[in-house]
Amino acid sequence: MNNFFRATIFLIFVFVSSAAAHAAGDPIKGKELFIFCMACHGQSAEGVPALNAPANAGQDLWYMLRQMKNFRAGIRGAHPDDIFGAQMRPMALTLPDEQAVQDVVTYIATLDLPDPPVTIEGDIEAGKKAYETCIPCHGAQGEGAKALDAPRLSRQHDWYLVSQLNNFKAGIRGTHQNDVYGAQMRIMAQMLETDEQVRDVAAYIASMEYVPGEE
Ligand code: HEC
Ligand code: HEC
Repeated sequence: MNNFFRATIFLIFVFVSSAAAHAAGDPIKGKELFIFCMACHGQSAEGVPALNAPANAGQDLWYMLRQMKNFRAGIRGAHPDDIFGAQMRPMALTLPDEQAVQDVVTYIATLDLPDPPVTIEGDIEAGKKAYETCIPCHGAQGEGAKALDAPRLSRQHDWYLVSQLNNFKAGIRGTHQNDVYGAQMRIMAQMLETDEQVRDVAAYIASMEYVPGEE
């Protein structure tokens, strides 16, 4: 009884504090909206390789919010060569308003971390060396840094990391005039000169232990 009471108080506390932190999003409404996203991103937002849809579970709320806004505004996913971004963009636009965007990402942020399978073969040691340049923004364990606008990389599918690095390199992502953050990342991606370096760094990120990032 006593334990039950304490657990209840604890849950109320967690609920109130998380509601305060993301006062703008309603996860209950978000859960309903998410049914539509499941078709590509999977039941738990774990990502579906066959549909080229990355994991969203485990990703930072603030980062998902920015990407949704960018897709909706055509800052991401509107480049003529962005095949997969072009699939996501109309999906982002089906959400009726900014509140719905807030609600759905707030719900996704409550889901358990994904555990994506390793699909890329690369030289993890070489990738670790190449990753040194990424640490100032994405963190030593790929945990991301909100203050630097850099998202979590760990627990993301390795093939998706490769495709995004290649998109940044080719200017398919990060070249829209209003893509402030994408432009920063594009410069960094260009430092990975060969396909091999891109694969190595993705293989290294896939090997990282999970470390919680900031909210
Ligand atoms: C038709 C399939 C499809 C549906 C439905 C869909 N997505 Fe996506 N989504 C994608 C694909 C494909 C990508 C990867 C785009 C790329 O490669 O740049 C993506 C990317 C994203 C990203 C960017 C992730 C990152 O790490 O940068 C977010 C956030 C996202 N989707 C959220 C959602 C939400 C929320 C919904 C529901 C409202 C949704 N998606 C519905 C296919 C879909
Ligand atoms: C100067 C800071 C900075 C450095 C250094 C940096 N990045 Fe980034 N990175 C960013 C920012 C900011 C974004 C978010 C771009 C956006 O909002 O679209 C990003 C986005 C990404 C993404 C897309 C994630 C997703 O879910 O779509 C990948 C992959 C990535 N970075 C990998 C790397 C790798 C690998 C390195 C090292 C070679 C690196 N980054 C170095 C700032 C940085």
